[in-house]
Amino acid sequence: MQKILDLISDEMKKAFGQAGYDEELGKVTLSNRPDLCEFQCNGAMAGAKLYKKAPIMIAQDVAEKLTDSSIFSEVTAVAPGFLNCKLSGSFLTSYLDGMKCNRKFGLEESDHKKKIVIDYGGPNVAKPLHVGHLRSAVIGESVKRIAKYMGHEVIGDIHMGDWGLQMGLIITELKERQPDLVYFDERYKGEYPKEPPFTISELEEIYPTASGKSKVDEEYKKRAMEATHMLQEGVRGYRALWDHIIAVSVADLKRNYENLNVDFDLWNGESSVQDIIPDMVNYMKSEGYAHESEGALVVDVKEETDTKEIPPCMILKSDGASLYNTTDLATIMERKDKIDPDHIIYVVDKRQELYFEQVFRCARKTKIVHPGTELTFLGFGTVNGKDGKPFKTRDGGVMRLENLISDINDKMYEKIMENKEKNGDTAVSEEEAKKTAKTVALAAIKYGDLSNQASKDYIFDVDRFTSFEGDTGPYILYTIVRIKSILNKYKEAGGNVLTAAIGGVCNDSEKALMLEITKFNAMMEAAYAELAPHKVCAYIYDLSNAFNRFYHETKILKEEDEQKKSGYIALLVLTKEILEACIDVLGFYAPERM
Ligand code: ARG
Repeated sequence: MQKILDLISDEMKKAFGQAGYDEELGKVTLSNRPDLCEFQCNGAMAGAKLYKKAPIMIAQDVAEKLTDSSIFSEVTAVAPGFLNCKLSGSFLTSYLDGMKCNRKFGLEESDHKKKIVIDYGGPNVAKPLHVGHLRSAVIGESVKRIAKYMGHEVIGDIHMGDWGLQMGLIITELKERQPDLVYFDERYKGEYPKEPPFTISELEEIYPTASGKSKVDEEYKKRAMEATHMLQEGVRGYRALWDHIIAVSVADLKRNYENLNVDFDLWNGESSVQDIIPDMVNYMKSEGYAHESEGALVVDVKEETDTKEIPPCMILKSDGASLYNTTDLATIMERKDKIDPDHIIYVVDKRQELYFEQVFRCARKTKIVHPGTELTFLGFGTVNGKDGKPFKTRDGGVMRLENLISDINDKMYEKIMENKEKNGDTAVSEEEAKKTAKTVALAAIKYGDLSNQASKDYIFDVDRFTSFEGDTGPYILYTIVRIKSILNKYKEAGGNVLTAAIGGVCNDSEKALMLEITKFNAMMEAAYAELAPHKVCAYIYDLSNAFNRFYHETKILKEEDEQKKSGYIALLVLTKEILEACIDVLGFYAPERM
C-alpha cells in the first residue's frame, strides 16, 4: 500500500496544479499543531517568492480546489499562508480497511531482496557474558528481525572470540592443575575422552586466574603463548581440549542467548577462518597491497581526504602471528565465497569504530569483497549505571548478564504477585506468575535498551525499565494484554472478532488512534533504512498512548449500537496485531495476562 503521507501529498499536489501552481509545492507533513489540524502543507509559503504573490492567496486558491476532496474533510488556509488539513473519515477508514486485509498491514516489502549478514553477539568463549554483551545481542537480533520483516534474506552470525591467546591461557592453567591429563601426553595415540575435563563454572574461573597470572608472571605468559602456538599448529591433545572448551562454552552461550530470545543462524568464530589466512596473506603480498613495516605486515589505508589519522591495517605481527584484524578480513573473504552477501552489518561497541574503518578500507583496497557489497558498522554506546559510570554490581564488579536478568525476573515476579493480591486474583497460579514475570522482564530489558538510539550511552535504570507506566516494555505489554482481555470478553458474550469490520469514525480519540495506526508502513521502512529499532519503540509507545486514551474515553463493550461496537472491536484487533508485529521485530512477546 502507498504510504498515507504520499497519498495525501498526491492529492495536495493535484490541487496546486489545478490552481495553476507548481505541483511540487504540495508536500504534506504531519501537523506540528495537532490541536489545530492533523496534517499541514507549507507549499504556499514557498510559492510566494516564485509567484510574487501573498502566500495566503496561494493557499486560498489551493484550498478552494479541495472543497470536494474525498481525502480531506477540511482544508483551511490560515495566515500567513499555511494549509491546515483534516482527513475525511471515510478515506481514513478505507485506508485502515486496506491495512487490515493486508498481510503486513500495508507494508510493501523491498523490491530488491538482499542477502544480509548480521555479525552480532561476538562473545568470547570461556568468559561469562556480562552486561556489555547485552546490547550487541539485543540490537543485532532486532535489526535482523526488521530486515527479515522487510522481506530480505538475513543470516545472523555470532562471530565468537574462540581463538588466540585466551585459549592458550586456559590450556596452560589446566596443565598446571592437572598435568597428568591424557591431553598432555605426547605419546598418546588413542581417542580422547568424550567428557570434558571441566565444567562451565570451572572454565569461567580458570580463564581469569590464568589471565591474572600471565600479567605478573613472564614465564607463565611465555608458556601460554607457546600453548597457543601449539594449538594453532594443530597438536592433537591441544585441539581436543580446545574442542571441549568450545563445546562447553557454546552450550552455556546457547542457554544464555535463548533466555534473551536471541538466536543465530551461524555459530562461527574467529577460529573458523584460520585455514584460509595463509592464502589471504600471500594474496595481499603478491598483489602488492601489503608491505613490511617494522617487521610487521601492514596494508596502508589512509586516504587524502582524511581529517584524522587512520593508521595502517596490520595483517601479521612481527612474530608472524595473526590478529583480530586478520580474522575479520578472512571472515569477509569467507562470507563472499560461501554466502555472497549484498550487505554485512556489524553490531559492535562503538569504541571499535576506527578499527572497523580500517578493516573495511583494507577489504575494499585489497578487493576481497565485491565493490557492490555494503559494509556497515552499527556501533552502540555503553550501558551505564545511575551514577553515569559503566554498569557495575553493587560491590563494583562486572555485572554478569545472567545475574542482571535474574534480578529483573525477581523484581517483575514481586510486582506481579503484588498486583495479583491487589486484584484479589486467584486464577493465576504461581507457575504462571513466574512465567509471566520472565516474559515481562524480557520486555523490560529489551525495550529499555532498544528505545535508545543505538549509538548513545544509556542508563540502565531498573526501577524505570520495570515500571508499568511510561515509555517502558511492561507498559506496551500491559496495553496488549488489556486489548486481549477486552476481545476475550467480547467473544465470551458471543461476539465474533473475525467478522468485525472497521466502522466509521465516532470520536476524536478514535480518530487519533486510527491516524497513529496508519503510520505503520512508513515507520517500518524508516527503521530498516536507518537500522533503527528505536523508531519501532517510539511508534508503539505513541500507538499505546493513543489506544489507552481511546480506551478511557470510549465505552467499548457497553456500546449499544452493535455496528459501532463491532467497528471498535475491529480497531482493537488491528491495534493488537500491529503492536504484536512490532514487539516481535524487537525480539520479545506478550503474555496472555499480567
Ligand atoms: N569478540 C569481540 C570483542 O569482545 C567482538 C566481536 C565483534 N565482531 C567482529 N566481527 N569483530 O570485542
